Amino acid sequence: MAHRWTNTLTHADVTPRGAFLNRRQVIAGMAGAGLASAAGSALAQSELEPNSWEEITSYNNYYEFGTRKEDPALYAGSLTTEPWSIEIDGLVDRPGTYDFSAILSELTIEERIYRFRCVEAWSMVVPWNGFELADLLTMAGVQDGAKYVAFETAYRPDEMPGVRYPVLEWPYREGLRLDEALHPLTIMATGIYGKPIPNQNGAPLRLVVPWKYGFKSIKSIVRITLTEAEPPTSWNMANPREYGFYSNVNPEVDHPRWSQATERRIGGGLFAKREPTLMFNGYQQEVAGLYAGMDLSKNF
Ligand code: MTE
Repeated sequence: MAHRWTNTLTHADVTPRGAFLNRRQVIAGMAGAGLASAAGSALAQSELEPNSWEEITSYNNYYEFGTRKEDPALYAGSLTTEPWSIEIDGLVDRPGTYDFSAILSELTIEERIYRFRCVEAWSMVVPWNGFELADLLTMAGVQDGAKYVAFETAYRPDEMPGVRYPVLEWPYREGLRLDEALHPLTIMATGIYGKPIPNQNGAPLRLVVPWKYGFKSIKSIVRITLTEAEPPTSWNMANPREYGFYSNVNPEVDHPRWSQATERRIGGGLFAKREPTLMFNGYQQEVAGLYAGMDLSKNF
């Protein structure tokens, strides 16, 4: 698998952790170049210390492989990720089947250290490797009428033991507004810590939208469709009262069954204090403009 991996940045595996972090913090502060210049945001970014590989790859949500946090690490190995292709269709100039390795050879892989906040109120910091979704959409050529982007995960009953259970309507589906999809912070992750992304984290490519709850970050994507209408999304279909289309991280809008004001940082230990959840997960400076004039308690 490693051969199709373009690692532009890092010696993460050989650099001592301290040196690694310092360099990464600088890079994280510059994520989305020119966007993270505001003092508040820069300060927040400089505090980011990534979770360990072990934490990031053993505590997962990937219901196609079971609903316990340990299930994806135990069972996702059965997913065949090579070869892999992505159908890009709908309102695009160049619809078709895009081979994943061909996509990789065209696009630049960068490292992005992002906070990751699950709707269940736990969080991590993950050093992703990936490319901007905007670059892939440009490859396909977005047409004028497109307003949304819909995503689908692979549906493989033979390889995904969890899809036997009707926990969600399969395949797992997600969606973004086009301007959210084109935002420079929105990436397709293909790696973690400079290594190919493991199956349990969504190999070979998964969405990462750092200012939204983690369930928007759909894994193992096989289809991307540009649409005019807001696409149906799995968690919203399952329970529209609890999971909105937007799902921006917001400490002021609680989930009907629990508070979203604080979060439990994975790896913090049994007695760690809960941390305050940040508006837009700490990316307010960069993304608040996307929602100007919207009532975020209604458009949750
Ligand atoms: N994508 C698919 N296909 N299936 C899933 O069950 N879970 C979501 C999201 N993407 C999920 C998915 C949820 S709820 C979260 S919090 C994140 O993946 C978890 O990502 P991680 O396991 O890499 O931390």
